[in-house]
Amino acid sequence: MCGIIGVVGSADALKILLDGLERLEYRGYDSAGVALVRAGETWRARTATGTASVASLRDECASAPEGFVSGIGHTRWATHGAPETVNAHPHLDCSGHVAIIHNGIVENHGPLQAELEARGHRFTSVTDSEVLAHLIEEGRADGLELLDAVRASLLVVRGAFALAAVDATEPNVIVAARRISPLVVGTAKGATFLASDVPAILDRADSFYAVNDDEIVRLGPEGFRAVDLDGVPVRLRQLAIDWDLETAQKGGHDDYMIKEINEQPDALRTTLLDRRRDDGTITFDELRVADEELRDVRRVVIVAAGTSHHAALVAKYALERWAHVSVEVDISSEYRYRDPVVEVGTLVIAVSQSGETIDTIQAMREAKRRGARVVAVANVVDSSLAREADAVIYTRAGLEVSVASTKAYVAQVAALELLALRLAQLRATLPAPDVEAHLLGLRAVGALVSRALGRRAGVEAVAGALAGAHDFFFIGRHVGYPTALEGALKFKEITYLHAEGYPAGELKHGPLALIEPGVVVVAIATDPALHEKMLSNLSEVKARGASVVAVATDDDDQIDAVADFILRVPATEPLFSPMVDIVPLQLFAYAMARGLGRNVDRPRNLAKTVTVE
Ligand code: F6R
Repeated sequence: MCGIIGVVGSADALKILLDGLERLEYRGYDSAGVALVRAGETWRARTATGTASVASLRDECASAPEGFVSGIGHTRWATHGAPETVNAHPHLDCSGHVAIIHNGIVENHGPLQAELEARGHRFTSVTDSEVLAHLIEEGRADGLELLDAVRASLLVVRGAFALAAVDATEPNVIVAARRISPLVVGTAKGATFLASDVPAILDRADSFYAVNDDEIVRLGPEGFRAVDLDGVPVRLRQLAIDWDLETAQKGGHDDYMIKEINEQPDALRTTLLDRRRDDGTITFDELRVADEELRDVRRVVIVAAGTSHHAALVAKYALERWAHVSVEVDISSEYRYRDPVVEVGTLVIAVSQSGETIDTIQAMREAKRRGARVVAVANVVDSSLAREADAVIYTRAGLEVSVASTKAYVAQVAALELLALRLAQLRATLPAPDVEAHLLGLRAVGALVSRALGRRAGVEAVAGALAGAHDFFFIGRHVGYPTALEGALKFKEITYLHAEGYPAGELKHGPLALIEPGVVVVAIATDPALHEKMLSNLSEVKARGASVVAVATDDDDQIDAVADFILRVPATEPLFSPMVDIVPLQLFAYAMARGLGRNVDRPRNLAKTVTVE
């Protein structure tokens, strides 16, 4: 998704912008640009399509004049208008003095553009964002300071945005604003910074502040001040940031994805840290919901997207089994457009790694509007979801950079299962020794994940043997089903090969027609209770010529009869198995994708933080 960076008051302005944009690359983008500003002069460089990398923008910037101390930069992920240079940000007003960058969508840009054109403004791009430059231009022409000109424009635009504006007639000032899309401000001696997220300015700023919805910030070399839409001063909340730059880098690995896959045991350990009091009570420090309220929950609805949705599906099995509560799992983008029923006792859980996924934020808002209590399960601290929910449980997986989510997924499953055990305690649906045993089991998962990671070479050999295959079905039963969905998602998004996840029992209801020689069926066959049924399913696909890859436990001596390839995993309690069984599937997807020369960290067409619907 688009990335924003800004700096005011540094002799290193251009370098800061370009370095920052590089650190925002993981968000996904198809064009990039910067604008530098000083009294009477706005200098701009942009690149797009094919050449869209910050490296090519650096080349473009080689001719930048010296002496600028302020500027803004942007990586764009096209929504309105093709990924071409004319549509790359920053966009200028008619005078060429005002430059803006924008992340999000201006929903009413059509009528606004028509009105602006009728008043004589000339548009040079096919973007929704450019209206902002011209609206600000009008405010400036009316004699407003840049801060008030931005504020006035926000009163007429609808939609989601993080926005930054500069004006060569009011140099050494950046005005930024936020509605839904994330934005942070950083300060250091003599310079002030702005970014979509902290890593972009981590090594430059000493202190960091979160901008909230409908807040407008004026940045100068000496610091910043913020107002709300009415112009009333507001204080920005300081963020507690404990990342170092190393955390945001690859740490010696070829790419972020394999680094993050390998960090899963740590992610699990950290997620589970300090969650049990001495008396055995499960506790979430950050969860601000009264015990009575959790105990009296009658129905749980979980909303999430993509990989987070798969973690939610796993949680359904745990919540139903341990806490005896009825659970519905919904895709966030569907939830708000139905007529979801929220009754007394409905607890909505919104799950998101980034905490910025617009679909999930909007689903949460819809649930709140209908009277539900909402608990967010988020990885990014102080993210929009975390702030807006009634309560939050942090997954503590650490910064996840690779677009394909891995360590955040296992952390989500662990955090949700912990919540299921807490509900079981409160509702007395499990005897205390059973809760204790499950807690111990959950704590042991990290070590099992480490063992599964140690088998990477074996997974790579299977991937090598299947090079050239194009069609993959991932099947599973019980919690093996969400594992199959997640295995297929990981596989398709980084290999660009066709992969589908199915409940194994559904094969005979349609997809079996597609099974023929050349098709690969990847089966999650680790559940002893459903093993026989899975063996029958595999016999069916094998009889039709498919190649079978089975994820099977170390002690399984029956699987050889039906599987061509076996990915062995250590056995565990079925409800914990998704965190272990996903490991060979992540490694399998990774090995296949690398074999095909794919960019695993930045798969085509995808973005890490999805802030448009
Ligand atoms: C896939 C993946 C996506 C995200 C989805 C939701 O590997 O990462 O499917 O899971 O876009 O993102 P969050 O969890 O940030 O809400």
